[in-house]
Amino acid sequence: MTESRQIHLVRRPRGVPVAEDFAVVPVATPDAGAGEVQLQTLLMSVDPYMRPRLDADQPLDVALLGGGIARVVQSRHDGFREGDLVRHMAGMRERFVSDGRGLTPLKVDPDLPLSVYMHALGGTGLTAYGGLLEVGALKDGEQVFVSTAGGAVGSVVAQIAKLKGCYVVGTTGSDEKAAWLRDVAGLDAVINYKSGPLAPALKAVTPKGIDVYFENVGGAHLDAALARMNVRGRIPVCGMISTYNGDREGVRNLSNLIYSRIRMEGFVASDFGHLRERFEADVTAWLKAGQIKYQETILDGFERAPEGLIGLFEGRNAGKMLIRVAA
Ligand SMILES: NC(=O)c1ccc[n+]([C@@H]2O[C@H](COP(=O)([O-])OP(=O)(O)OC[C@H]3O[C@@H](n4cnc5c(N)ncnc54)[C@H](OP(=O)(O)O)[C@@H]3O)[C@@H](O)[C@H]2O)c1
Repeated sequence: MTESRQIHLVRRPRGVPVAEDFAVVPVATPDAGAGEVQLQTLLMSVDPYMRPRLDADQPLDVALLGGGIARVVQSRHDGFREGDLVRHMAGMRERFVSDGRGLTPLKVDPDLPLSVYMHALGGTGLTAYGGLLEVGALKDGEQVFVSTAGGAVGSVVAQIAKLKGCYVVGTTGSDEKAAWLRDVAGLDAVINYKSGPLAPALKAVTPKGIDVYFENVGGAHLDAALARMNVRGRIPVCGMISTYNGDREGVRNLSNLIYSRIRMEGFVASDFGHLRERFEADVTAWLKAGQIKYQETILDGFERAPEGLIGLFEGRNAGKMLIRVAA
């Protein structure tokens, strides 16, 4: 038996979640039984998709949904050895016991840090890769607009588009993130959407229109993009974070879909399992060659997971927001 902790939702949030909606709960984790492993969480992810789930799907007073990378610390399972690393979606638990179902063995390239397997080489990277190349059907040299370009998904989308010879415009919510996107990630133009009206700013930096708008925000961002879309443009709809806390800003330019023959299509990361091998090979090579750069905002301490989740809606992360639980 090991003392450990879980993060629980104890109250349904109204609007942006607050610390009091969550609790850090001590639990006793049993030893691994026959055919089981006990795992220690190393890195935990907090993600925007979690917010809508807090309204209904996430039960109160149990471990919050979520996933991360964990290390096998006890094994009585033939398929795992102590020290093995795995990916899991077992929720926000410091330690837990598993019969192996839902655990994906993780092989780490010795030249890359473990944390990149939580973003560029993890779910957000696959989302960016599949969303842009498959759903967005990106062609070399096109005009691309990416919202939340300073975040985990957006920063990878923007840089893949640059690698494909595209003209890339991004939005972000701070001057520091904008400077990183321009000076380090190499975007052609970056707008801090908090510094003035978005539509005229976007028009000014998209003289050739937009062929692919990678949608992460919704609301005013979608409206501004719709007004600039080229004929046969594509809008892969990855997320609409501006709506997740209950704001439902109306979109007025949807009729532009018609005469511009625009295809707008939603997707989820799990649609892209068939791309995983190619994605891992491409992104590993790009990371090692320094062709994809990344930022991380890592909060140290299991108990900081609620702070990390809340911070996503306040733009407190540059790149992927992660919780480091153990080394
Ligand atoms: N379809 C899928 O399978 C899938 C998978 C992963 C993620 N997603 C979606 O992709 C988007 C980005 O996710 P991520 O994991 O990469 O998160 P992220 O961009 O790393 O972090 C969230 C960022 O969103 C921005 N933001 C927060 N509230 C906003 C608002 N009201 N208006 C505009 N921007 C706001 C903030 O950056 P600023 O400083 O720029 O404001 C914040 O840092 C989200 O919409 C998410 O739901 C979808």
